[in-house]
Amino acid sequence: RKPISLPRLNELRERGEKITMLTAYDATFAAVADAAGVECILVGDSLGMVCQGLPSTVGVSLETMRYHTESVVRGVQRVQGTAWIIGDLPFGTYHESREQALRSATVLMQAGAHMVKLEGGGWTTETVRFLVERGIPVCAHLGLTPQTVHALGGYRVQGRGDSAAKLRQDALALQDAGAAMLVLEMVPAALSAELTEALPRCHTIGIGAGKGTAGQVLVMHDMLGINLGKNPKFVRNFMTGQSSVLDAMGAYVLAVKDGSFPDNALHAW
Ligand code: KIV
Ligand code: NA
Repeated sequence: RKPISLPRLNELRERGEKITMLTAYDATFAAVADAAGVECILVGDSLGMVCQGLPSTVGVSLETMRYHTESVVRGVQRVQGTAWIIGDLPFGTYHESREQALRSATVLMQAGAHMVKLEGGGWTTETVRFLVERGIPVCAHLGLTPQTVHALGGYRVQGRGDSAAKLRQDALALQDAGAAMLVLEMVPAALSAELTEALPRCHTIGIGAGKGTAGQVLVMHDMLGINLGKNPKFVRNFMTGQSSVLDAMGAYVLAVKDGSFPDNALHAW
């Protein structure tokens, strides 16, 4: 397999092949995800919940993200893997200024990430442009943005009714600023499908956003069925019927590629 790069992701998109992404936080699981054919590995700040036991992602530090990014990068390198690795910029590390965002992104890029991800629209546009101009690929994240859970009032569907227009406007501005990827979390399937059409240069990656996106992402612990809490509606347990984590991740890749996951009737709004 060829290493995943931005041109390679563009190729997948152009031939209508769905992009697969899973989170991973350590060397072993990252290597297994890579071996299963997952194209993109997100070192998500969801590690605050699944690794650190925090109540939300708000308490995750940049130093913690550096540690986990380094672990994932080493895990993929050890097996000569091909995954595109994305590091999440945690809460408070890109909010102050574009310069602060550059310093924080530098930490994750030097840890071996290929791309950084940041949450929010509007005010983030100029930050994204600043990073992209300086050679840092950026993934944006709209809809349910977990770092702002307290402002949003909970983990609930976003982009319904009047707020759809703002989401649309933010997404177009982020593409214009050079964001090469955009996570859409918990937004109506019709809206994310429409945005995917409107964003040819920015690959939409859905989570709880229906099947019309360019790709899909899930938190690994959710799709392996080892999340102790109640799983959100958009999750499928891919361990069901499988006898290994490798096979479960392989089943996820297959289901995303053949369009059987997500099912808009079961996993979307
Ligand atoms: O941190 C994370 O796992 C994420 C995904 C849910 C997109 O941001
Ligand atoms: Na995240």
